[in-house]
Amino acid sequence: MPIKKATNQKEIKRIAVFTSGGDAPGMNAAIRAVVRTATYYDLHVFGIHEGYEGMIDSKVDRLERRDVANIIQRGGTMLKTARSMRFMTQEGRQSAYETLLAHDIDACVAIGGNGTFTGANIFSQEFDIPFIGIPGTIDNDLFGTDRTIGFDTAVNTAVEAVDRIRDTADSHNRLFFIEVMGRHSGFIALNTAIGSGAGSVLIPEKDMPLEELIDSLRMNAKRQKLFYLVIVAEGNKHGNASQIAEKVRPKLEMYDVKFTIIGHLQRGGAPSCFDRVLASRLGFAAVDGLLKGERNVMAGIVNNKIVYTPLEAAIKTEKGINDELLNLAEILAI
Ligand code: F6P
Repeated sequence: MPIKKATNQKEIKRIAVFTSGGDAPGMNAAIRAVVRTATYYDLHVFGIHEGYEGMIDSKVDRLERRDVANIIQRGGTMLKTARSMRFMTQEGRQSAYETLLAHDIDACVAIGGNGTFTGANIFSQEFDIPFIGIPGTIDNDLFGTDRTIGFDTAVNTAVEAVDRIRDTADSHNRLFFIEVMGRHSGFIALNTAIGSGAGSVLIPEKDMPLEELIDSLRMNAKRQKLFYLVIVAEGNKHGNASQIAEKVRPKLEMYDVKFTIIGHLQRGGAPSCFDRVLASRLGFAAVDGLLKGERNVMAGIVNNKIVYTPLEAAIKTEKGINDELLNLAEILAI
């Protein structure tokens, strides 16, 4: 067991865990790992319901080892989640601080994405209760970890959906625009495109003019190839899948153009084994890190090693799409 270091702050005996922002498959596995690790180290654990909203409204319960039994395989989050506008205000954060004081909480484990850590980062500059982050978002858009919890499951779900669309698109010789999630990032789209063998991908990180896509689709048509799949990231610059289909239809009259938005299907469902293991490792690393003196950082895994990245860097550093993957997607689609 590590020594419970007080470092520059008080000794940690009571921690709170919460999930915030969009849910992600594997969040439950992370909660379980936090509670079980904390129990192992003789800490008291509290669950905050509905993220920062529940922190403001004092929705806090004690969590024991058995409370997290039978959840590792479940999607969603047993603690529920929310996107809190109130936590973005000083008054909201003050109320949240009072809740934590009332329960004598020494540190918080925040499971979420960019918005969650932005809130945690501001809070940690205003108040003396440290936070540690666990990256839980299907978007995979956090610096300081190769993968975020939920990404693997979401991509698998998207690929399965595209496989199904492929069958019907192929049978009817149709051009399909298939939209996947990712408001600001193309990780899901790019991986889905490669995993499903799609012809093209539109992502926010790479500006591909629609004319370029139209030209290559015309070339395909000349080769009698009228079946084609384009994966569209939600945050791409040309609009949603329906708008893109509308824009290209008049210029590609030889194609039967359709679109599908996979949407929230990608967020639900049982987490993949990869996400369960990732969540378990990061849940452990968060509690272990706190006890070893880590403060206001995010626990991540880079090259299969646990690393702690300051929250500020995790949210502000561009993770960057992998150019090698982009290149691969193009080459394999010839
Ligand atoms: O951040 C995760 C995410 O699923 C994004 O990919 C998506 O843009 C957003 O959440 C959707 O959020 P909501 O469910 O609140 O509409």
